[in-house]
Amino acid sequence: MKADFILKNIGQLVTMAGGNGPRIGKQMDEVEILKGAYLAIKDKKIITIGTDGIKDNLIGEKTIIKDAEGLTVTPGLIDPHTHLVHGGSRENEFSKKLNGVSYIDILNQGGGILSTVKSTKKATHKQLYKKAKKSLDIMLGYGMTTIEAKSGYGLELETEVKQMEVAKNLNEDHPMDIASTFLGAHAIPIEYKGNPDKFVEEIIKMLPIVMEKGLAEFCDVFCEEGVFSIPQAKKILLAAKELGYKLKIHADEIVSLGGAELVAEVGAISGDHLMAASDKGIEMMAKKGIIANILPGTSFNLGKAYAPVRKMIEKGVPVALSTDYNPGSCPTENIQFIMQLGSLGLKMTPKEVFTAVTINAAYSIGREKNIGSLEVGKAADFVIFDAPNIDYIIYHFGINHTKDVYKNGKLVYSNGRVCY
Ligand code: NIG
Ligand code: FE
Repeated sequence: MKADFILKNIGQLVTMAGGNGPRIGKQMDEVEILKGAYLAIKDKKIITIGTDGIKDNLIGEKTIIKDAEGLTVTPGLIDPHTHLVHGGSRENEFSKKLNGVSYIDILNQGGGILSTVKSTKKATHKQLYKKAKKSLDIMLGYGMTTIEAKSGYGLELETEVKQMEVAKNLNEDHPMDIASTFLGAHAIPIEYKGNPDKFVEEIIKMLPIVMEKGLAEFCDVFCEEGVFSIPQAKKILLAAKELGYKLKIHADEIVSLGGAELVAEVGAISGDHLMAASDKGIEMMAKKGIIANILPGTSFNLGKAYAPVRKMIEKGVPVALSTDYNPGSCPTENIQFIMQLGSLGLKMTPKEVFTAVTINAAYSIGREKNIGSLEVGKAADFVIFDAPNIDYIIYHFGINHTKDVYKNGKLVYSNGRVCY
Protein backbone atom coordinates (compact mmCIF):
# COMPACT_ATOMS: atom_id res chain seq x y z
CA MET A 1 0.00 0.00 0.00
CA LYS A 2 1.34 3.46 -0.92
CA ALA A 3 1.29 6.05 1.87
CA ASP A 4 -0.11 9.56 1.42
CA PHE A 5 2.38 10.88 3.95
CA ILE A 6 5.45 9.61 5.78
CA LEU A 7 7.07 11.27 8.77
CA LYS A 8 10.68 10.05 8.97
CA ASN A 9 13.62 10.53 11.27
CA ILE A 10 11.58 10.76 14.48
CA GLY A 11 14.03 11.02 17.39
CA GLN A 12 11.61 9.55 19.94
CA LEU A 13 8.23 8.19 18.89
CA VAL A 14 5.99 7.75 21.92
CA THR A 15 3.40 5.27 20.66
CA MET A 16 1.41 4.42 23.83
CA ALA A 17 0.79 1.12 22.04
CA GLY A 18 -0.03 -2.16 23.73
CA GLY A 19 -2.22 -3.12 26.61
CA ASN A 20 -5.92 -3.61 26.73
CA GLY A 21 -7.94 -1.40 28.96
CA PRO A 22 -6.87 1.86 30.56
CA ARG A 23 -3.34 1.79 31.99
CA ILE A 24 -3.15 1.18 35.72
CA GLY A 25 -0.38 0.96 38.32
CA LYS A 26 3.09 0.41 36.81
CA GLN A 27 1.64 0.25 33.29
CA MET A 28 1.17 4.01 33.44
CA ASP A 29 4.95 4.35 33.57
CA GLU A 30 5.71 1.66 30.96
CA VAL A 31 5.55 3.61 27.75
CA GLU A 32 6.79 2.38 24.37
CA ILE A 33 9.29 4.84 22.93
CA LEU A 34 10.79 4.02 19.52
CA LYS A 35 14.06 5.65 18.48
CA GLY A 36 14.68 6.69 14.89
CA ALA A 37 11.20 5.65 13.80
CA TYR A 38 8.93 6.60 10.93
CA LEU A 39 5.17 6.85 10.65
CA ALA A 40 3.22 6.17 7.42
CA ILE A 41 -0.31 7.47 6.86
CA LYS A 42 -3.05 6.81 4.33
CA ASP A 43 -6.62 8.09 4.29
CA LYS A 44 -6.28 9.78 7.71
CA LYS A 45 -5.10 6.56 9.40
CA ILE A 46 -1.76 5.11 10.41
CA ILE A 47 -0.76 2.26 8.10
CA THR A 48 2.80 1.49 9.25
CA ILE A 49 5.14 2.32 12.10
CA GLY A 50 8.73 1.17 11.72
CA THR A 51 12.29 1.63 12.83
CA ASP A 52 14.14 -0.41 10.23
CA GLY A 53 14.16 1.85 7.17
CA ILE A 54 11.14 2.92 5.16
CA LYS A 55 9.80 0.05 3.05
CA ASP A 56 9.94 0.77 -0.72
CA ASN A 57 6.39 -0.39 -1.26
CA LEU A 58 5.11 2.50 0.92
CA ILE A 59 6.48 5.18 -1.38
CA GLY A 60 4.47 6.13 -4.45
CA GLU A 61 4.68 9.10 -6.81
CA LYS A 62 2.36 11.19 -4.65
CA THR A 63 3.75 10.24 -1.26
CA ILE A 64 4.88 13.26 0.72
CA ILE A 65 7.87 12.61 2.98
CA LYS A 66 8.67 14.95 5.85
CA ASP A 67 11.75 14.89 8.06
CA ALA A 68 11.00 15.16 11.81
CA GLU A 69 14.63 16.19 12.33
CA GLY A 70 15.14 13.94 15.33
CA LEU A 71 12.38 15.57 17.41
CA THR A 72 9.83 13.93 19.71
CA VAL A 73 6.45 12.76 18.42
CA THR A 74 3.50 11.74 20.59
CA PRO A 75 -0.19 10.98 20.02
CA GLY A 76 -2.39 14.09 19.82
CA LEU A 77 -3.18 15.19 23.36
CA ILE A 78 -6.70 14.61 24.67
CA ASP A 79 -8.40 16.83 27.24
CA PRO A 80 -11.33 14.91 28.73
CA HIS A 81 -12.78 17.71 30.89
CA THR A 82 -13.40 21.28 29.73
CA HIS A 83 -16.12 23.90 30.09
CA LEU A 84 -15.29 25.21 26.60
CA VAL A 85 -18.44 27.13 25.66
CA HIS A 86 -19.33 30.06 27.91
CA GLY A 87 -19.93 33.78 27.81
CA GLY A 88 -17.81 36.41 29.54
CA SER A 89 -14.95 36.03 31.99
CA ARG A 90 -14.58 36.54 35.73
CA GLU A 91 -11.43 38.54 36.35
CA ASN A 92 -13.69 40.89 38.36
CA GLU A 93 -13.77 38.17 41.08
CA PHE A 94 -10.01 37.79 41.17
CA SER A 95 -9.28 40.32 43.91
CA LYS A 96 -12.06 38.82 46.11
CA LYS A 97 -10.40 35.46 45.63
CA LEU A 98 -6.97 36.89 46.47
CA ASN A 99 -8.48 38.38 49.63
CA GLY A 100 -9.47 34.92 50.75
CA VAL A 101 -13.16 34.67 49.76
CA SER A 102 -13.72 31.02 48.88
CA TYR A 103 -14.92 29.68 45.53
CA ILE A 104 -18.17 28.38 47.07
CA ASP A 105 -18.80 31.64 48.97
CA ILE A 106 -18.46 33.62 45.73
CA LEU A 107 -21.01 31.22 44.15
CA ASN A 108 -23.36 31.60 47.13
CA GLN A 109 -23.20 35.39 46.74
CA GLY A 110 -24.61 34.98 43.21
CA GLY A 111 -21.20 35.21 41.51
CA GLY A 112 -19.01 32.39 40.24
CA ILE A 113 -20.85 29.94 38.00
CA LEU A 114 -24.04 32.01 38.38
CA SER A 115 -22.28 35.08 36.99
CA THR A 116 -21.13 33.09 33.94
CA VAL A 117 -24.72 31.82 33.58
CA LYS A 118 -25.84 35.45 33.18
CA SER A 119 -23.18 36.19 30.54
CA THR A 120 -23.91 32.95 28.67
CA LYS A 121 -27.66 33.61 28.57
CA LYS A 122 -26.97 37.09 27.14
CA ALA A 123 -24.52 35.91 24.48
CA THR A 124 -25.70 34.95 21.01
CA HIS A 125 -24.79 31.67 19.34
CA LYS A 126 -22.39 33.60 17.13
CA GLN A 127 -20.63 35.26 20.07
CA LEU A 128 -20.26 31.97 21.94
CA TYR A 129 -18.99 30.28 18.78
CA LYS A 130 -16.37 32.96 18.18
CA LYS A 131 -15.09 32.86 21.77
CA ALA A 132 -14.96 29.05 21.93
CA LYS A 133 -13.27 28.84 18.52
CA LYS A 134 -10.51 31.12 19.78
CA SER A 135 -9.97 28.73 22.71
CA LEU A 136 -9.93 25.72 20.39
CA ASP A 137 -7.21 27.35 18.29
CA ILE A 138 -5.15 27.92 21.44
CA MET A 139 -5.72 24.31 22.52
CA LEU A 140 -4.65 23.02 19.11
CA GLY A 141 -1.46 24.99 19.54
CA TYR A 142 -0.69 23.18 22.79
CA GLY A 143 -1.02 19.85 20.97
CA MET A 144 -4.62 18.95 21.79
CA THR A 145 -6.54 17.17 19.02
CA THR A 146 -9.64 15.96 20.92
CA ILE A 147 -11.45 17.44 23.91
CA GLU A 148 -14.61 16.98 25.92
CA ALA A 149 -16.85 20.05 26.37
CA LYS A 150 -19.59 20.54 28.95
CA SER A 151 -22.69 22.69 28.99
CA GLY A 152 -23.75 24.01 32.42
CA TYR A 153 -23.97 27.78 32.07
CA GLY A 154 -27.66 27.90 31.17
CA LEU A 155 -29.36 25.91 33.94
CA GLU A 156 -32.45 26.06 31.71
CA LEU A 157 -33.09 24.20 28.48
CA GLU A 158 -32.75 27.01 25.96
CA THR A 159 -29.30 28.20 27.01
CA GLU A 160 -27.99 24.70 27.71
CA VAL A 161 -29.06 23.72 24.18
CA LYS A 162 -27.45 26.87 22.77
CA GLN A 163 -24.13 25.92 24.39
CA MET A 164 -24.26 22.34 23.13
CA GLU A 165 -25.23 23.47 19.63
CA VAL A 166 -22.17 25.70 19.56
CA ALA A 167 -20.03 22.69 20.57
CA LYS A 168 -21.71 20.59 17.88
CA ASN A 169 -21.11 23.20 15.17
CA LEU A 170 -17.48 23.59 16.21
CA ASN A 171 -17.04 19.83 16.18
CA GLU A 172 -18.10 19.94 12.52
CA ASP A 173 -16.19 23.09 11.51
CA HIS A 174 -12.97 22.96 13.53
CA PRO A 175 -10.24 20.28 13.33
CA MET A 176 -10.64 19.58 17.06
CA ASP A 177 -12.92 16.62 17.83
CA ILE A 178 -15.34 17.51 20.60
CA ALA A 179 -17.16 15.02 22.82
CA SER A 180 -20.22 16.67 24.36
CA THR A 181 -21.50 16.50 27.93
CA PHE A 182 -24.78 17.80 29.38
CA LEU A 183 -24.03 19.47 32.72
CA GLY A 184 -27.41 21.06 33.44
CA ALA A 185 -26.77 20.21 37.10
CA HIS A 186 -23.86 22.63 37.49
CA ALA A 187 -25.37 25.01 40.08
CA ILE A 188 -28.71 25.70 41.71
CA PRO A 189 -30.30 28.74 40.02
CA ILE A 190 -31.22 31.55 42.47
CA GLU A 191 -34.96 31.04 41.89
CA TYR A 192 -34.66 27.40 43.10
CA LYS A 193 -32.49 28.11 46.15
CA GLY A 194 -35.33 27.30 48.54
CA ASN A 195 -36.33 24.17 46.65
CA PRO A 196 -33.38 22.46 44.96
CA ASP A 197 -35.31 19.20 44.57
CA LYS A 198 -37.66 20.99 42.22
CA PHE A 199 -34.64 21.95 40.09
CA VAL A 200 -33.50 18.31 40.11
CA GLU A 201 -36.90 17.44 38.60
CA GLU A 202 -36.39 20.13 35.94
CA ILE A 203 -33.02 18.67 34.96
CA ILE A 204 -34.52 15.21 34.72
CA LYS A 205 -37.12 16.61 32.31
CA MET A 206 -34.37 18.08 30.13
CA LEU A 207 -32.48 14.78 29.81
CA PRO A 208 -34.64 13.10 27.12
CA ILE A 209 -34.90 16.32 25.10
CA VAL A 210 -31.12 16.78 24.98
CA MET A 211 -30.69 13.10 24.11
CA GLU A 212 -33.29 13.27 21.33
CA LYS A 213 -31.56 16.28 19.80
CA GLY A 214 -28.32 14.25 19.75
CA LEU A 215 -26.51 17.00 21.64
CA ALA A 216 -24.70 15.04 24.36
CA GLU A 217 -23.12 11.67 24.88
CA PHE A 218 -22.34 12.17 28.59
CA CYS A 219 -24.22 13.54 31.59
CA ASP A 220 -22.32 15.21 34.45
CA VAL A 221 -23.33 16.66 37.85
CA PHE A 222 -21.44 19.05 40.16
CA CYS A 223 -21.83 17.03 43.35
CA GLU A 224 -20.58 19.27 46.16
CA GLU A 225 -21.60 20.65 49.53
CA GLY A 226 -23.96 23.55 48.86
CA VAL A 227 -24.49 22.49 45.23
CA PHE A 228 -25.96 19.02 44.42
CA SER A 229 -26.02 16.51 47.27
CA ILE A 230 -25.19 12.83 46.84
CA PRO A 231 -28.90 11.75 46.70
CA GLN A 232 -29.74 14.57 44.25
CA ALA A 233 -26.77 13.74 42.01
CA LYS A 234 -27.64 10.05 42.13
CA LYS A 235 -31.22 10.70 41.07
CA ILE A 236 -30.13 12.73 38.03
CA LEU A 237 -27.37 10.31 37.05
CA LEU A 238 -29.53 7.20 37.27
CA ALA A 239 -32.23 8.87 35.16
CA ALA A 240 -29.54 9.79 32.62
CA LYS A 241 -28.09 6.28 32.61
CA GLU A 242 -31.52 4.85 31.91
CA LEU A 243 -31.68 7.04 28.77
CA GLY A 244 -28.29 5.84 27.52
CA TYR A 245 -26.01 8.64 28.69
CA LYS A 246 -22.53 7.72 29.89
CA LEU A 247 -21.87 9.32 33.26
CA LYS A 248 -19.27 11.72 34.62
CA ILE A 249 -19.24 13.38 38.04
CA HIS A 250 -17.55 16.48 39.47
CA ALA A 251 -16.84 14.54 42.65
CA ASP A 252 -15.13 15.41 45.95
CA GLU A 253 -13.69 18.60 44.45
CA ILE A 254 -13.78 20.65 47.64
CA VAL A 255 -15.43 18.65 50.44
CA SER A 256 -15.17 14.87 50.93
CA LEU A 257 -18.84 13.99 50.42
CA GLY A 258 -18.60 10.41 49.17
CA GLY A 259 -18.38 11.47 45.52
CA ALA A 260 -15.83 8.79 44.57
CA GLU A 261 -18.11 6.16 46.13
CA LEU A 262 -21.00 7.51 44.04
CA VAL A 263 -18.84 7.34 40.88
CA ALA A 264 -18.30 3.63 41.54
CA GLU A 265 -21.88 2.97 42.59
CA VAL A 266 -23.51 4.44 39.47
CA GLY A 267 -20.81 3.01 37.18
CA ALA A 268 -19.62 6.32 35.74
CA ILE A 269 -17.03 6.33 32.94
CA SER A 270 -14.97 8.81 34.99
CA GLY A 271 -14.92 10.56 38.33
CA ASP A 272 -13.48 14.06 38.00
CA HIS A 273 -11.46 16.25 40.42
CA LEU A 274 -11.39 13.92 43.49
CA MET A 275 -9.10 16.21 45.48
CA ALA A 276 -10.94 15.19 48.66
CA ALA A 277 -11.72 11.57 47.68
CA SER A 278 -11.80 9.06 50.55
CA ASP A 279 -9.64 5.92 50.65
CA LYS A 280 -12.76 3.81 50.42
CA GLY A 281 -13.95 5.71 47.34
CA ILE A 282 -10.55 5.26 45.68
CA GLU A 283 -10.65 1.53 46.34
CA MET A 284 -14.17 1.27 44.95
CA MET A 285 -13.11 3.11 41.77
CA ALA A 286 -10.09 0.81 41.41
CA LYS A 287 -12.25 -2.28 41.69
CA LYS A 288 -14.43 -1.08 38.82
CA GLY A 289 -11.54 0.26 36.71
CA ILE A 290 -13.11 3.73 36.57
CA ILE A 291 -10.92 6.57 35.35
CA ALA A 292 -9.96 9.31 37.79
CA ASN A 293 -9.87 12.51 35.75
CA ILE A 294 -7.55 14.77 37.71
CA LEU A 295 -7.43 18.54 37.19
CA PRO A 296 -4.34 19.92 38.95
CA GLY A 297 -4.80 23.38 37.40
CA THR A 298 -7.89 23.77 39.56
CA SER A 299 -5.96 22.87 42.72
CA PHE A 300 -3.26 25.33 41.69
CA ASN A 301 -5.70 28.13 40.92
CA LEU A 302 -7.96 27.64 43.94
CA GLY A 303 -4.99 27.13 46.25
CA LYS A 304 -6.31 23.72 47.27
CA ALA A 305 -4.59 20.42 47.93
CA TYR A 306 -3.65 18.27 44.96
CA ALA A 307 -5.61 15.05 44.46
CA PRO A 308 -3.96 11.96 46.00
CA VAL A 309 -2.78 10.63 42.66
CA ARG A 310 0.13 8.53 43.95
CA LYS A 311 -2.32 6.69 46.15
CA MET A 312 -4.71 6.25 43.21
CA ILE A 313 -1.99 4.80 40.99
CA GLU A 314 -0.78 2.55 43.78
CA LYS A 315 -4.34 1.26 44.34
CA GLY A 316 -4.82 0.60 40.60
CA VAL A 317 -7.07 3.49 39.58
CA PRO A 318 -6.40 4.55 35.96
CA VAL A 319 -5.57 8.27 35.96
CA ALA A 320 -6.24 10.87 33.24
CA LEU A 321 -5.40 14.58 33.36
CA SER A 322 -7.47 17.50 32.10
CA THR A 323 -7.37 21.29 32.01
CA ASP A 324 -10.90 21.88 33.39
CA TYR A 325 -10.72 25.01 31.21
CA ASN A 326 -13.45 27.31 32.58
CA PRO A 327 -13.76 31.00 33.53
CA GLY A 328 -13.72 30.42 37.31
CA SER A 329 -11.75 27.60 38.87
CA CYS A 330 -9.25 27.15 36.03
CA PRO A 331 -9.07 29.79 33.32
CA THR A 332 -6.42 28.22 31.09
CA GLU A 333 -6.37 26.20 27.86
CA ASN A 334 -2.73 25.24 28.40
CA ILE A 335 -2.58 21.46 28.79
CA GLN A 336 1.22 21.50 28.84
CA PHE A 337 1.12 23.57 32.06
CA ILE A 338 -1.40 21.07 33.47
CA MET A 339 0.99 18.25 32.55
CA GLN A 340 3.82 20.07 34.30
CA LEU A 341 1.59 20.36 37.39
CA GLY A 342 1.00 16.62 36.96
CA SER A 343 4.66 16.15 37.82
CA LEU A 344 5.35 19.16 40.05
CA GLY A 345 2.07 18.99 42.00
CA LEU A 346 0.79 15.43 41.69
CA LYS A 347 4.27 13.81 41.60
CA MET A 348 3.61 11.80 38.46
CA THR A 349 6.53 10.83 36.22
CA PRO A 350 6.59 12.34 32.72
CA LYS A 351 5.65 8.93 31.30
CA GLU A 352 2.65 8.69 33.62
CA VAL A 353 1.69 12.21 32.63
CA PHE A 354 1.75 11.36 28.91
CA THR A 355 -0.26 8.20 29.55
CA ALA A 356 -2.80 10.36 31.38
CA VAL A 357 -3.30 12.80 28.48
CA THR A 358 -3.33 10.21 25.69
CA ILE A 359 -4.58 6.64 26.09
CA ASN A 360 -6.21 6.99 29.53
CA ALA A 361 -7.85 10.25 28.46
CA ALA A 362 -9.18 8.46 25.37
CA TYR A 363 -10.76 5.81 27.59
CA SER A 364 -12.31 8.47 29.76
CA ILE A 365 -14.36 9.71 26.79
CA GLY A 366 -14.91 6.27 25.26
CA ARG A 367 -12.75 6.96 22.17
CA GLU A 368 -9.93 4.49 22.85
CA LYS A 369 -10.56 2.49 19.67
CA ASN A 370 -9.66 5.42 17.43
CA ILE A 371 -7.33 7.74 19.36
CA GLY A 372 -4.97 7.90 22.35
CA SER A 373 -2.14 5.84 20.86
CA LEU A 374 -0.23 5.65 17.59
CA GLU A 375 -1.00 2.20 16.23
CA VAL A 376 -1.85 0.81 12.80
CA GLY A 377 -5.52 1.47 12.03
CA LYS A 378 -5.87 4.37 14.45
CA ALA A 379 -6.33 8.04 13.54
CA ALA A 380 -3.23 9.94 12.43
CA ASP A 381 -3.48 12.51 15.24
CA PHE A 382 0.00 13.41 16.45
CA VAL A 383 2.21 16.21 17.70
CA ILE A 384 5.82 17.03 16.84
CA PHE A 385 7.35 18.61 19.92
CA ASP A 386 10.47 20.74 19.65
CA ALA A 387 12.09 18.63 22.36
CA PRO A 388 14.61 15.80 22.49
CA ASN A 389 12.42 13.63 24.75
CA ILE A 390 9.20 13.77 26.82
CA ASP A 391 10.96 14.47 30.11
CA TYR A 392 12.19 17.76 28.63
CA ILE A 393 8.61 18.84 27.84
CA ILE A 394 7.63 18.51 31.49
CA TYR A 395 10.86 19.75 33.04
CA HIS A 396 11.20 22.93 30.97
CA PHE A 397 7.96 24.45 32.22
CA GLY A 398 5.74 27.37 31.33
CA ILE A 399 6.45 27.53 27.60
CA ASN A 400 4.81 25.92 24.59
CA HIS A 401 6.87 23.04 23.17
CA THR A 402 4.64 22.32 20.18
CA LYS A 403 6.17 22.53 16.72
CA ASP A 404 3.54 20.90 14.48
CA VAL A 405 0.13 19.31 15.08
CA TYR A 406 -1.51 16.82 12.72
CA LYS A 407 -5.19 15.94 12.90
CA ASN A 408 -6.35 12.98 10.78
CA GLY A 409 -3.06 13.18 8.88
CA LYS A 410 -3.44 16.87 8.06
CA LEU A 411 -1.16 19.63 9.32
CA VAL A 412 -3.40 21.96 11.38
CA TYR A 413 -0.83 23.95 13.42
CA SER A 414 2.74 24.75 12.56
CA ASN A 415 5.43 26.92 14.16
CA GLY A 416 3.13 29.10 16.22
CA ARG A 417 0.11 29.33 13.91
CA VAL A 418 -3.01 27.38 13.07
CA CYS A 419 -3.06 26.38 9.39
CA TYR A 420 -6.22 24.31 8.84
O1 NIG B 1 -14.81 22.00 37.35
N1 NIG B 1 -16.81 22.91 39.88
C1 NIG B 1 -17.61 23.08 39.01
N2 NIG B 1 -17.34 23.42 37.77
C2 NIG B 1 -16.10 23.93 37.33
C3 NIG B 1 -15.95 25.38 37.56
C4 NIG B 1 -16.89 26.18 36.75
C5 NIG B 1 -16.80 27.65 36.99
O2 NIG B 1 -16.31 28.12 38.04
O3 NIG B 1 -17.29 28.38 36.08
C6 NIG B 1 -14.96 23.09 37.87
O4 NIG B 1 -14.22 23.49 38.76
FE1 FE C 1 -15.10 21.11 35.71
